[in-house]
Amino acid sequence: MTPNNAYMKYTLITGSSSGIGLSFAHECASRGMNLALVSLPGTGLPDRALEISEKYKVDVKYLEIDLTVFDAPLKVYSWCCDKNISVNFLINNAGLAGTSCFSDSDPEYSDKRILLNIRALTLLCRYFIPMLAQNSKSFILNVGSLSAFFSIPYKCVYSATKAYVLNFSKSLNIELKPKGISVSVVCPNGVETNEGTFARINSHKHWGRWTKIDSRKLAKISINDTFKGKRVIIPKMINRFLMITGRMIPSFIKLPFLEREFRKEPPSN
Ligand SMILES: NC(=O)c1ccc[n+]([C@@H]2O[C@H](COP(=O)([O-])OP(=O)(O)OC[C@H]3O[C@@H](n4cnc5c(N)ncnc54)[C@H](OP(=O)(O)O)[C@@H]3O)[C@@H](O)[C@H]2O)c1
Repeated sequence: MTPNNAYMKYTLITGSSSGIGLSFAHECASRGMNLALVSLPGTGLPDRALEISEKYKVDVKYLEIDLTVFDAPLKVYSWCCDKNISVNFLINNAGLAGTSCFSDSDPEYSDKRILLNIRALTLLCRYFIPMLAQNSKSFILNVGSLSAFFSIPYKCVYSATKAYVLNFSKSLNIELKPKGISVSVVCPNGVETNEGTFARINSHKHWGRWTKIDSRKLAKISINDTFKGKRVIIPKMINRFLMITGRMIPSFIKLPFLEREFRKEPPSN
Protein backbone atom coordinates (compact mmCIF):
# COMPACT_ATOMS: atom_id res chain seq x y z
CA MET A 1 0.00 0.00 0.00
CA THR A 2 1.25 3.50 -0.79
CA PRO A 3 1.15 6.09 2.01
CA ASN A 4 0.56 9.19 -0.13
CA ASN A 5 -1.86 8.57 -2.99
CA ALA A 6 -2.75 12.24 -3.66
CA TYR A 7 -1.56 12.08 -7.30
CA MET A 8 -2.48 8.47 -7.99
CA LYS A 9 -5.49 7.50 -10.05
CA TYR A 10 -7.67 4.46 -9.39
CA THR A 11 -9.99 2.18 -11.31
CA LEU A 12 -13.08 1.38 -9.26
CA ILE A 13 -14.58 -2.06 -9.97
CA THR A 14 -17.81 -3.31 -8.38
CA GLY A 15 -18.41 -7.04 -7.87
CA SER A 16 -14.69 -7.71 -8.04
CA SER A 17 -14.13 -10.66 -5.71
CA SER A 18 -14.94 -13.29 -8.37
CA GLY A 19 -16.10 -13.91 -11.93
CA ILE A 20 -15.93 -11.15 -14.54
CA GLY A 21 -15.20 -8.47 -11.93
CA LEU A 22 -12.09 -10.33 -10.71
CA SER A 23 -10.95 -10.73 -14.33
CA PHE A 24 -11.34 -6.97 -14.81
CA ALA A 25 -9.24 -6.44 -11.69
CA HIS A 26 -6.42 -8.69 -13.02
CA GLU A 27 -6.55 -7.12 -16.48
CA CYS A 28 -6.37 -3.55 -15.15
CA ALA A 29 -3.66 -4.37 -12.58
CA SER A 30 -1.58 -6.10 -15.29
CA ARG A 31 -1.59 -2.72 -17.08
CA GLY A 32 -0.23 -1.02 -13.95
CA MET A 33 -3.56 0.54 -12.93
CA ASN A 34 -4.29 1.05 -9.21
CA LEU A 35 -7.55 -0.45 -8.04
CA ALA A 36 -10.45 0.34 -5.71
CA LEU A 37 -12.36 -2.92 -5.37
CA VAL A 38 -15.94 -3.11 -4.11
CA SER A 39 -17.71 -6.36 -3.23
CA LEU A 40 -20.21 -7.96 -0.91
CA PRO A 41 -18.89 -8.65 2.62
CA GLY A 42 -17.56 -12.19 3.16
CA THR A 43 -16.64 -12.89 -0.46
CA GLY A 44 -12.85 -13.02 0.11
CA LEU A 45 -12.16 -9.50 -1.14
CA PRO A 46 -9.30 -8.68 1.31
CA ASP A 47 -7.40 -11.79 0.11
CA ARG A 48 -8.03 -10.97 -3.57
CA ALA A 49 -6.85 -7.38 -3.01
CA LEU A 50 -3.61 -8.54 -1.37
CA GLU A 51 -2.92 -11.16 -4.08
CA ILE A 52 -3.41 -8.62 -6.87
CA SER A 53 -1.39 -5.92 -5.14
CA GLU A 54 1.56 -8.31 -4.62
CA LYS A 55 1.38 -9.88 -8.07
CA TYR A 56 1.23 -6.66 -10.12
CA LYS A 57 2.83 -4.19 -7.69
CA VAL A 58 -0.09 -1.77 -7.82
CA ASP A 59 -2.00 -0.08 -5.00
CA VAL A 60 -5.27 -1.86 -4.20
CA LYS A 61 -7.91 -0.44 -1.86
CA TYR A 62 -11.08 -2.34 -1.05
CA LEU A 63 -14.54 -1.84 0.44
CA GLU A 64 -16.97 -4.59 1.42
CA ILE A 65 -20.56 -3.40 1.00
CA ASP A 66 -23.95 -4.64 -0.19
CA LEU A 67 -24.81 -2.36 -3.11
CA THR A 68 -28.54 -3.09 -2.86
CA VAL A 69 -28.73 -1.24 0.47
CA PHE A 70 -30.32 2.20 0.10
CA ASP A 71 -27.33 4.45 0.82
CA ALA A 72 -24.58 2.07 -0.41
CA PRO A 73 -23.78 3.93 -3.68
CA LEU A 74 -23.30 7.17 -1.73
CA LYS A 75 -21.17 5.31 0.85
CA VAL A 76 -18.88 4.04 -1.95
CA TYR A 77 -18.42 7.61 -3.20
CA SER A 78 -17.86 8.96 0.33
CA TRP A 79 -15.29 6.20 0.99
CA CYS A 80 -13.31 7.33 -2.07
CA CYS A 81 -13.47 10.98 -0.99
CA ASP A 82 -12.48 10.18 2.61
CA LYS A 83 -9.58 7.92 1.59
CA ASN A 84 -8.37 10.26 -1.14
CA ILE A 85 -9.06 7.64 -3.82
CA SER A 86 -9.12 9.62 -7.06
CA VAL A 87 -11.08 7.60 -9.63
CA ASN A 88 -10.54 8.03 -13.38
CA PHE A 89 -12.17 4.74 -14.47
CA LEU A 90 -15.44 3.37 -13.08
CA ILE A 91 -16.38 -0.22 -13.95
CA ASN A 92 -19.96 -1.03 -12.96
CA ASN A 93 -19.74 -4.82 -13.10
CA ALA A 94 -21.85 -5.98 -10.13
CA GLY A 95 -25.09 -7.43 -11.38
CA LEU A 96 -27.42 -10.33 -10.70
CA ALA A 97 -28.57 -12.68 -13.45
CA GLY A 98 -30.91 -15.67 -13.03
CA THR A 99 -33.78 -17.53 -14.64
CA SER A 100 -37.20 -17.67 -13.09
CA CYS A 101 -40.86 -17.72 -14.03
CA PHE A 102 -41.89 -14.18 -13.08
CA SER A 103 -45.26 -15.10 -11.57
CA ASP A 104 -43.68 -17.84 -9.39
CA SER A 105 -40.68 -15.81 -8.22
CA ASP A 106 -40.44 -13.92 -4.93
CA PRO A 107 -40.97 -10.18 -5.28
CA GLU A 108 -37.53 -9.80 -3.63
CA TYR A 109 -35.96 -11.67 -6.57
CA SER A 110 -36.98 -8.88 -8.95
CA ASP A 111 -36.33 -6.16 -6.41
CA LYS A 112 -32.70 -7.23 -5.90
CA ARG A 113 -32.03 -7.22 -9.63
CA ILE A 114 -33.56 -3.79 -10.09
CA LEU A 115 -31.70 -2.38 -7.07
CA LEU A 116 -28.31 -3.76 -8.16
CA ASN A 117 -28.45 -3.81 -11.96
CA ILE A 118 -30.22 -0.46 -12.35
CA ARG A 119 -30.26 1.65 -9.18
CA ALA A 120 -26.72 1.06 -7.88
CA LEU A 121 -25.19 1.40 -11.36
CA THR A 122 -27.07 4.64 -12.09
CA LEU A 123 -26.27 6.27 -8.75
CA LEU A 124 -22.60 5.29 -8.90
CA CYS A 125 -22.34 6.95 -12.33
CA ARG A 126 -24.07 10.05 -10.98
CA TYR A 127 -21.95 10.40 -7.83
CA PHE A 128 -18.64 9.86 -9.62
CA ILE A 129 -19.20 12.23 -12.58
CA PRO A 130 -17.58 15.29 -10.91
CA MET A 131 -14.51 13.26 -9.89
CA LEU A 132 -14.24 11.64 -13.33
CA ALA A 133 -14.55 15.05 -15.02
CA GLN A 134 -11.81 16.43 -12.79
CA ASN A 135 -9.57 13.49 -13.76
CA SER A 136 -10.38 13.47 -17.49
CA LYS A 137 -9.68 11.87 -19.85
CA SER A 138 -11.66 9.29 -17.90
CA PHE A 139 -13.91 6.30 -18.53
CA ILE A 140 -17.05 4.49 -17.40
CA LEU A 141 -17.57 0.86 -18.42
CA ASN A 142 -21.01 -0.56 -17.63
CA VAL A 143 -21.53 -4.31 -17.85
CA GLY A 144 -24.68 -5.10 -19.79
CA SER A 145 -25.54 -8.35 -21.54
CA LEU A 146 -26.51 -9.57 -25.00
CA SER A 147 -29.95 -10.09 -23.46
CA ALA A 148 -30.29 -6.28 -23.50
CA PHE A 149 -31.20 -6.58 -27.21
CA PHE A 150 -33.99 -9.12 -26.65
CA SER A 151 -37.20 -9.63 -24.66
CA ILE A 152 -36.48 -12.92 -22.94
CA PRO A 153 -39.19 -15.03 -21.27
CA TYR A 154 -38.05 -16.37 -17.84
CA LYS A 155 -35.48 -13.57 -17.77
CA CYS A 156 -38.09 -10.80 -17.99
CA VAL A 157 -36.58 -8.62 -15.29
CA TYR A 158 -32.91 -9.39 -16.02
CA SER A 159 -33.14 -8.68 -19.75
CA ALA A 160 -35.12 -5.50 -19.03
CA THR A 161 -32.50 -4.28 -16.51
CA LYS A 162 -29.76 -4.87 -19.08
CA ALA A 163 -31.78 -3.04 -21.76
CA TYR A 164 -31.82 -0.13 -19.30
CA VAL A 165 -28.03 -0.39 -18.87
CA LEU A 166 -27.53 -0.38 -22.65
CA ASN A 167 -29.77 2.63 -23.34
CA PHE A 168 -28.60 4.57 -20.28
CA SER A 169 -24.93 4.07 -21.24
CA LYS A 170 -25.39 5.08 -24.89
CA SER A 171 -27.15 8.35 -24.07
CA LEU A 172 -24.89 9.12 -21.10
CA ASN A 173 -21.87 8.80 -23.40
CA ILE A 174 -23.16 11.69 -25.52
CA GLU A 175 -23.93 13.84 -22.46
CA LEU A 176 -20.52 13.27 -20.85
CA LYS A 177 -18.34 13.72 -23.94
CA PRO A 178 -17.86 17.48 -23.33
CA LYS A 179 -16.65 16.65 -19.80
CA GLY A 180 -13.94 14.34 -21.16
CA ILE A 181 -15.66 11.17 -19.92
CA SER A 182 -16.15 8.28 -22.33
CA VAL A 183 -18.94 5.78 -21.51
CA SER A 184 -18.93 2.23 -22.89
CA VAL A 185 -21.22 -0.71 -22.34
CA VAL A 186 -20.14 -4.33 -22.84
CA CYS A 187 -22.80 -6.88 -23.81
CA PRO A 188 -21.42 -10.42 -23.49
CA ASN A 189 -23.36 -13.62 -24.05
CA GLY A 190 -22.51 -16.52 -21.67
CA VAL A 191 -19.46 -16.32 -19.42
CA GLU A 192 -18.74 -19.34 -17.20
CA THR A 193 -18.22 -17.66 -13.83
CA ASN A 194 -20.01 -19.89 -11.30
CA GLU A 195 -22.13 -23.06 -11.02
CA GLY A 196 -25.28 -21.23 -12.07
CA THR A 197 -23.80 -19.76 -15.25
CA PHE A 198 -22.17 -23.12 -16.15
CA ALA A 199 -25.56 -24.84 -15.90
CA ARG A 200 -27.36 -22.09 -17.84
CA ILE A 201 -24.81 -22.05 -20.65
CA ASN A 202 -24.79 -25.88 -20.90
CA SER A 203 -28.59 -25.96 -21.16
CA HIS A 204 -28.28 -24.19 -24.55
CA LYS A 205 -26.05 -27.03 -25.93
CA HIS A 206 -24.21 -25.91 -29.12
CA TRP A 207 -25.60 -22.33 -28.90
CA GLY A 208 -24.07 -22.07 -25.43
CA ARG A 209 -20.72 -23.42 -26.64
CA TRP A 210 -20.50 -21.16 -29.70
CA THR A 211 -21.46 -17.93 -28.00
CA LYS A 212 -19.69 -18.13 -24.61
CA ILE A 213 -16.44 -16.36 -23.82
CA ASP A 214 -13.75 -16.80 -21.16
CA SER A 215 -13.89 -14.04 -18.52
CA ARG A 216 -10.17 -13.09 -18.88
CA LYS A 217 -10.59 -12.73 -22.65
CA LEU A 218 -13.76 -10.71 -22.11
CA ALA A 219 -11.96 -8.38 -19.69
CA LYS A 220 -9.09 -7.80 -22.14
CA ILE A 221 -11.40 -7.01 -25.08
CA SER A 222 -13.61 -4.78 -22.91
CA ILE A 223 -10.74 -2.69 -21.52
CA ASN A 224 -9.07 -2.34 -24.96
CA ASP A 225 -12.33 -1.22 -26.57
CA THR A 226 -13.23 1.13 -23.70
CA PHE A 227 -9.90 2.93 -24.10
CA LYS A 228 -10.58 3.19 -27.85
CA GLY A 229 -13.86 4.97 -26.96
CA LYS A 230 -16.10 2.22 -28.37
CA ARG A 231 -19.70 2.87 -27.28
CA VAL A 232 -21.18 -0.65 -27.42
CA ILE A 233 -18.88 -3.66 -27.10
CA ILE A 234 -20.23 -7.07 -28.19
CA PRO A 235 -17.49 -9.71 -27.90
CA LYS A 236 -17.42 -12.49 -30.54
CA MET A 237 -18.62 -12.26 -34.13
CA ILE A 238 -21.43 -14.78 -33.58
CA ASN A 239 -22.94 -12.56 -30.87
CA ARG A 240 -22.82 -9.49 -33.14
CA PHE A 241 -24.52 -11.63 -35.80
CA LEU A 242 -27.23 -12.68 -33.30
CA MET A 243 -27.82 -9.07 -32.29
CA ILE A 244 -28.23 -7.94 -35.91
CA THR A 245 -30.40 -10.85 -37.04
CA GLY A 246 -32.45 -10.48 -33.86
CA ARG A 247 -33.40 -6.98 -35.04
CA MET A 248 -34.54 -8.27 -38.43
CA ILE A 249 -36.66 -11.21 -37.25
CA PRO A 250 -40.24 -10.22 -36.32
CA SER A 251 -41.35 -10.74 -32.71
CA PHE A 252 -44.02 -13.34 -33.60
CA ILE A 253 -41.20 -15.65 -34.78
CA LYS A 254 -38.50 -14.56 -32.33
CA LEU A 255 -40.44 -14.69 -29.04
CA PRO A 256 -41.70 -18.30 -29.30
CA PHE A 257 -38.14 -19.37 -30.21
CA LEU A 258 -36.73 -17.52 -27.17
CA GLU A 259 -39.46 -19.01 -24.96
CA ARG A 260 -38.50 -22.57 -26.00
CA GLU A 261 -34.79 -21.86 -25.64
CA PHE A 262 -34.91 -20.21 -22.20
CA ARG A 263 -37.47 -22.63 -20.74
CA LYS A 264 -34.55 -25.10 -20.77
CA GLU A 265 -32.44 -23.05 -18.34
CA PRO A 266 -32.42 -24.34 -14.74
CA PRO A 267 -34.33 -21.89 -12.51
CA SER A 268 -32.39 -19.89 -9.94
CA ASN A 269 -33.38 -18.17 -6.67
N1 LIG B 1 -21.76 -14.71 -16.41
C1 LIG B 1 -22.46 -14.46 -17.48
O1 LIG B 1 -22.82 -15.37 -18.26
C2 LIG B 1 -22.81 -13.04 -17.84
C3 LIG B 1 -23.31 -12.75 -19.13
C4 LIG B 1 -23.64 -11.46 -19.45
C5 LIG B 1 -23.48 -10.46 -18.51
N2 LIG B 1 -23.04 -10.74 -17.26
C6 LIG B 1 -22.92 -9.66 -16.28
O2 LIG B 1 -21.60 -9.59 -15.81
C7 LIG B 1 -21.57 -9.10 -14.47
C8 LIG B 1 -20.78 -10.04 -13.57
O3 LIG B 1 -21.32 -11.32 -13.71
P1 LIG B 1 -20.61 -12.61 -13.10
O4 LIG B 1 -21.20 -13.77 -13.83
O5 LIG B 1 -19.15 -12.43 -13.04
O6 LIG B 1 -21.12 -12.51 -11.60
P2 LIG B 1 -21.79 -13.60 -10.70
O7 LIG B 1 -20.82 -14.67 -10.47
O8 LIG B 1 -23.15 -13.93 -11.25
O9 LIG B 1 -22.01 -12.75 -9.38
C9 LIG B 1 -22.77 -11.59 -9.34
C10 LIG B 1 -21.90 -10.36 -9.33
O10 LIG B 1 -22.58 -9.27 -8.70
C11 LIG B 1 -21.93 -8.94 -7.46
N3 LIG B 1 -22.99 -8.80 -6.49
C12 LIG B 1 -24.04 -9.64 -6.29
N4 LIG B 1 -24.86 -9.17 -5.35
C13 LIG B 1 -24.30 -8.00 -4.94
C14 LIG B 1 -24.67 -7.03 -3.98
N5 LIG B 1 -25.80 -7.14 -3.26
N6 LIG B 1 -23.87 -5.95 -3.79
C15 LIG B 1 -22.73 -5.85 -4.49
N7 LIG B 1 -22.33 -6.69 -5.44
C16 LIG B 1 -23.11 -7.77 -5.64
C17 LIG B 1 -20.96 -10.06 -7.17
O11 LIG B 1 -19.80 -9.53 -6.64
P3 LIG B 1 -19.12 -9.97 -5.29
O12 LIG B 1 -19.48 -11.41 -5.00
O13 LIG B 1 -17.68 -9.75 -5.57
O14 LIG B 1 -19.70 -9.00 -4.29
C18 LIG B 1 -20.64 -10.57 -8.58
O15 LIG B 1 -19.69 -9.75 -9.20
C19 LIG B 1 -23.04 -8.95 -14.07
O16 LIG B 1 -23.44 -7.62 -14.25
C20 LIG B 1 -23.77 -9.87 -15.03
O17 LIG B 1 -25.11 -9.49 -15.25
C21 LIG B 1 -22.69 -12.01 -16.89
